[in-house]
Amino acid sequence: METKSSMYISQFRLWLLCFIIITLVSLSSSSRWYDDHISLREINAEEIFYFPKNFLFGTASSAYQYEGAYLTDGKTLSNWDVFTNISGKIADGSHGKIAVDHYHRYPGDLDLMEDLGVNSYRLSLSWARILPKGRFGDVNMGGIDHYNRMINDILKRGIEPFVTLTHYDIPQELESRYGSWLNPQIREDFEHYANICFRHFGDRVKFWATFNEPNVQVILGYRTGTFPPSRCSKTFGNCSCGDSYIEPLVAAHNIIRSHVAAVNLYRTKFQEQQRGKIGIVMNTIWFEPVSDSLADRLAAERAQAFYLTWFLDPVVFGRYPREMREILGEDLPEFTKDDLKSSKNTLDFIGINQYTSRYAKDCLHSVCEPGKGGSRAEGFVYAKALKDGLPLGEPTGVNWFSVYPQGMEEMLMYATERYKNIPLYVTENGFGENNTGVLLNDHPRVKFMSNYLDALKRAMRKGADVRGYFAWSLLDNFEWISGYTIRFGMYHVDFNTQERTPRLSASWYKNFIFQHRAQSKDD
Ligand code: FCB
Repeated sequence: METKSSMYISQFRLWLLCFIIITLVSLSSSSRWYDDHISLREINAEEIFYFPKNFLFGTASSAYQYEGAYLTDGKTLSNWDVFTNISGKIADGSHGKIAVDHYHRYPGDLDLMEDLGVNSYRLSLSWARILPKGRFGDVNMGGIDHYNRMINDILKRGIEPFVTLTHYDIPQELESRYGSWLNPQIREDFEHYANICFRHFGDRVKFWATFNEPNVQVILGYRTGTFPPSRCSKTFGNCSCGDSYIEPLVAAHNIIRSHVAAVNLYRTKFQEQQRGKIGIVMNTIWFEPVSDSLADRLAAERAQAFYLTWFLDPVVFGRYPREMREILGEDLPEFTKDDLKSSKNTLDFIGINQYTSRYAKDCLHSVCEPGKGGSRAEGFVYAKALKDGLPLGEPTGVNWFSVYPQGMEEMLMYATERYKNIPLYVTENGFGENNTGVLLNDHPRVKFMSNYLDALKRAMRKGADVRGYFAWSLLDNFEWISGYTIRFGMYHVDFNTQERTPRLSASWYKNFIFQHRAQSKDD
């Protein structure tokens, strides 16, 4: 008996050994690591999660970064055309005159999107293409015709256009003539422009964003001066003029009032008939207190006030956040009685651009330098990358960017709680790599997207009403002051030949969308 049972045991051991070897061999030869990664996640954590059927999966772009064709079909110069022409402004001395030539190549690019299986495309319109001289000149029908063709082509492919009216670029005319965002009259220009866009495209465009990241636009344009119109005080940057304490507040105020004017115009004149939604897109940073102290926890909240809720509170609640009012006092522009009435609830959704997170350190009770938290302009918060020499999340080769997926979940929950479960779209999320060759096997990007999308799902499970996700970006493109030195594309672009080549992330995203579509339940 004993010999028989020990024989069975050794047979069983042999069988087990064979089974392990076969499993290991088949695992190592099976598809790529990311497939295993996905299936592990799907089996362990994702089984019960479904995206709603009408969830938008898309890619995002902007006119200046993609289009090129900077003087084609009646377009004139934008502020970014002029700015990139000033030597020393862009890391590699480049510009967006050609960019990735999306103006001419968009049909091919839409084919790539169709192949990915996206059902939405976030793009922006070039204001200078539609109104080369703002409200001081005629509508440029060359620009209108171009966008009409493009919107029709997008829709023909079963893709929903998600359109931003202005993504940093404005007609240079408005800068030269009256100082653009520093002048309250820009509101009339913006309203005029919005009216033309709603009138010409609103029968087919059902998602409008007034602005892209006005917080970044005013902080870089008027506090540090690294974006046009390059204005700042000496302590904050290298500008010939400006006032880093006051001008960002003035520009922001004029942007908020312009947003309100455009939304109220849409609501009174177009929305009922066109049945679209209108919102704003903000850059978000999740601020984690650098310590558990009350001062640092309050600093983290203040950091949101001086970065995000600065713009969102006025257009939801009709006033600036308390922290700003307390610190800035009379420097903070006032809303008139009319503004107050008209600005509340002027959002159908919030667009959340989420890339990175930072530590927040209090500078009210300790001494910090201006530019490093030590000023009213910054709300006396230092947004630090490091704590005890270590970054929050994983650093990347890009200086402003560390990978912290948890920040996505926190940010979505923060917006959900503060703005009473307002619909949210993640209008940008993506991974940038330094330009170090072709890099088609972009594993870090795949890992990034997978982990941030997991965080997004966690937020949805907790109740955040997230309705879409747009990857930044389909293609490598002109990355503002970094020029072509940082690549964000799921497709590599050869900037000499304009050839597009898929990276690993493109097939990963395609697979992700396919899986989540197949699983999505009826609403
Ligand atoms: C966002 C911008 C977008 C792009 C990404 C990388 O802040 O909105 O245009 O540059 O960063």
